[in-house]
Amino acid sequence: VKVGILISGRGSNMQSLVAASQAADTAYTVALVASDKPQAAGLAWAQEQGIATFALSPKGIGKPAYEAAIDQALRDAGVEVIALAGYMRLLSSDFVSRWQGRILNIHPSLLPLYKGLDTHERAIAAGDAKAGCSVHVVTEELDDGEVLGQAEVPILSGDDAAALAARVLVEEHRLYPQILTEFVRR
Ligand code: GRF
Repeated sequence: VKVGILISGRGSNMQSLVAASQAADTAYTVALVASDKPQAAGLAWAQEQGIATFALSPKGIGKPAYEAAIDQALRDAGVEVIALAGYMRLLSSDFVSRWQGRILNIHPSLLPLYKGLDTHERAIAAGDAKAGCSVHVVTEELDDGEVLGQAEVPILSGDDAAALAARVLVEEHRLYPQILTEFVRR
């Protein structure tokens, strides 16, 4: 199964998806890494790996034209499933319906808790005992859609958002390839 990954920044989850795709008897290959941020660090990394990349900023051209171009690049690459990995834009309902049920996202909270930004700050402020990450199917609602898998970590006394984020990120890197593999095999 050919997967396209959308990123906006660092791309550490993208790297873990690529690494898993290169293992033996892999269920998917990464056919394209695309970004709304031409300067995204993850894009340079993907290029170095010899993975096809596509970068386009929506600035100046508007969201419909931007999404149409991303859509075309994904289709040209033969992509069947899209994995959002630190992609910081909300996809339009138009785009989502064209890829109905075939877009996954990883979100750094135990959904349905803490949709949106600053998840770790909010979990700590709430006094939660645990945090984690979720892989879910993307719908037109932010961080909504069926949860396919979750991983938990403890929140320790003295944790700040950065410490908690680092602990959760380790689990993200393990969970996302596992759930994507199960998803493309089902
Ligand atoms: C991750 O924590 C992901 O869950 C969130 O944004 C972060 C992206 O990190 N949506 P990276 O770009 O994958 O390193």
